[in-house]
Amino acid sequence: MRIDIITVSPELIRSPFEHSIVKRAIDKGLTEVYFHNLHEYGLGNYRQIDDTQFGGGAGMVMMIEPIDACISKLQAERTYDEIIYMTPDAKTLNQSTANTLSLQENLIILTGHYKGVDQRVRDKFITKEISIGDYVLSGGELAAAVLCDSIIRLIPGVLGDETSALTDSFQDNLLSPPVYTRPSEYKGLKVPEVLLSGNFPKIDTWRSEKAMERTQQIRPDLLDEPL
Ligand code: ADE
Repeated sequence: MRIDIITVSPELIRSPFEHSIVKRAIDKGLTEVYFHNLHEYGLGNYRQIDDTQFGGGAGMVMMIEPIDACISKLQAERTYDEIIYMTPDAKTLNQSTANTLSLQENLIILTGHYKGVDQRVRDKFITKEISIGDYVLSGGELAAAVLCDSIIRLIPGVLGDETSALTDSFQDNLLSPPVYTRPSEYKGLKVPEVLLSGNFPKIDTWRSEKAMERTQQIRPDLLDEPL
């Protein structure tokens, strides 16, 4: 999979790709990630990328020309499955979206800043808009990093233990059950007997029950969502 991220602030987003599972995926050649500095496509001597909004109002709006130039250059080189815009005014990212996107070949992710992008960018280029939650970040870079992490770890071969992504929270619309490691007792706090029993069918049942219990308590809304 290839991901092209368009940003006004490449330095802000680089670091999450230089560590841990995402880095390993890149090192193994399972994904390629490229950062495109929108200022390189900016207008005039000042490389302008934003302007005041028509109709008045506080905050700058990202202009269509630099974004068009960058996206069109990329599209001339290859076909993209999705051109994604990170914005708080969109549907919230969930595991199902991450699963679907992890099967794609080429993605562009556009990160917004200031008041966001000129609506015509959204109308003309964007095929999918994604929010990472009902709060406003200073820019879309951190949101894009979150999206990429959620996608990249699902690409086959990225996780060493192929089953571990399947047992993550949300894969089946359930939160994860509690997990424990050594010691089996710490200052009077005991690990549930069943986990020490070696009876794996019983352990599976216990985990399913706990996952359901936790979901009912904390996120009952997940139980109504389609799988
Ligand atoms: N940009 C600013 N806030 C955001 C959010 N919550 N999700 C995605 N992009 C954003």
